[in-house]
Amino acid sequence: MYSNILIKNLDNFGRGISYINDKIVFIKNALPGEIVDIKITTSKKKYQEAIVTKYHQKSPQRILTKCPYFNKCGGCNLLFFNYLDTLTFKLNKVKDLFTKNNINYTKEIEVIKNTHPFNYRHKLSLKIKNKKIGFYEENTHNLIPINECLLATSPINEVIKNYKLLNISNGDLTIRASSNNEILLVINTPDNNYNIELSKLKSKVKLVGIVYNNKTIYGQNFYYERLRGFLFKISYDSFFQINPYITEELFKLLKSNIKKDSTILELYSGVGTLSLVCASQSKTIYSVEIIKNAILNSNFNAKINHISNIKFMLGDVKNTVSKLNIFFDTLILDPPRKGLDKTTLNFILTKLPPTIIYISCDILTLIRDLKYLEKYYNLQEYKILDMFSYTYHLESFCVLNLR
Ligand SMILES: C[S@@+](CC[C@H](N)C(=O)[O-])C[C@H]1O[C@@H](n2cnc3c(N)ncnc32)[C@H](O)[C@@H]1O
Repeated sequence: MYSNILIKNLDNFGRGISYINDKIVFIKNALPGEIVDIKITTSKKKYQEAIVTKYHQKSPQRILTKCPYFNKCGGCNLLFFNYLDTLTFKLNKVKDLFTKNNINYTKEIEVIKNTHPFNYRHKLSLKIKNKKIGFYEENTHNLIPINECLLATSPINEVIKNYKLLNISNGDLTIRASSNNEILLVINTPDNNYNIELSKLKSKVKLVGIVYNNKTIYGQNFYYERLRGFLFKISYDSFFQINPYITEELFKLLKSNIKKDSTILELYSGVGTLSLVCASQSKTIYSVEIIKNAILNSNFNAKINHISNIKFMLGDVKNTVSKLNIFFDTLILDPPRKGLDKTTLNFILTKLPPTIIYISCDILTLIRDLKYLEKYYNLQEYKILDMFSYTYHLESFCVLNLR
């Protein structure tokens, strides 16, 4: 236990920073300027982690959150801030990381706001343990039971409130929702038999399907989403952005940065979303994605949106790129959090396309990859999209130009 600790700053994960005997301590739920008593929870050679046991002085920036699970469920680390302060936090985080990593970007960084900072999540993955539903506490398997999540849409919360109708004792439940409130449930459970109270569940939400241990046991194994005039079919195991409001902003940004008649290679293309959005401005598009259903969805999505200039290819990017013998002038990248692998980065450096549009959900791997590309590319545009409001995560939109 340590008393009267002054919080100096926030780290990249929204934790307070202080020092005890010159050793850094990361303190959950502690804001700069606050004076607190703390209890150390982890002690390592180079750092310590702690929780607050008493607040002596609170920050004027701190707000009272409506979420009863804040600081427990490990989800929204920034709920102690009002929305605009969360954006300032993200902006400062990026500026700080750019400075520390010598990323050369001198323009003002725009932060694109989420018009719905609450109830924006259209996908939520929950745990069910001993018939209780919730999230695991950070870095543990302790379930924090919840009745609702402030970030999720109201039909998703309706499923959570009625999860007992699923009669599941243990397992994972992923709830996916479309903008017109259709619900697809994906359940993975060691429970042997299902005994879902379907008619009661259907009276609560617009249920379109249930996939139970990879088998469709009700309705269909996909749902549709309509965004900016495009219709997308999305299978239960295919990626789709969780926040439709910011995804529409992403589409706008992308379109405005695609030159007319460009030839595009898109890597990590999901259900074809970004390629489809660029199709009308492009001559030809080649897209690569690893999930089979996502490629099937992509071909279907091209058809229903009357688009015929995209070739979707199934495969692991790192194995596929070396076999690609194509010309492209624009490369679109939207990898998962781990970013690009060495094979893909080297492929880029052998092809050197004039323009790269790099969309990233992890600022640290993005910076690592930008450093790899910086010998040949300038960072021309950089924007933050607030895809994951009230969490420390952020979506980045980058345009790189060949020098
Ligand atoms: C962040 S999502 C982007 C999807 C799409 N661009 C969109 O906006 O909806 C990343 C995608 O990469 C795919 N993926 C992950 N690893 C991959 C790999 N090694 N090769 C090809 N695709 C991969 C995932 O299945 C997912 O669809």
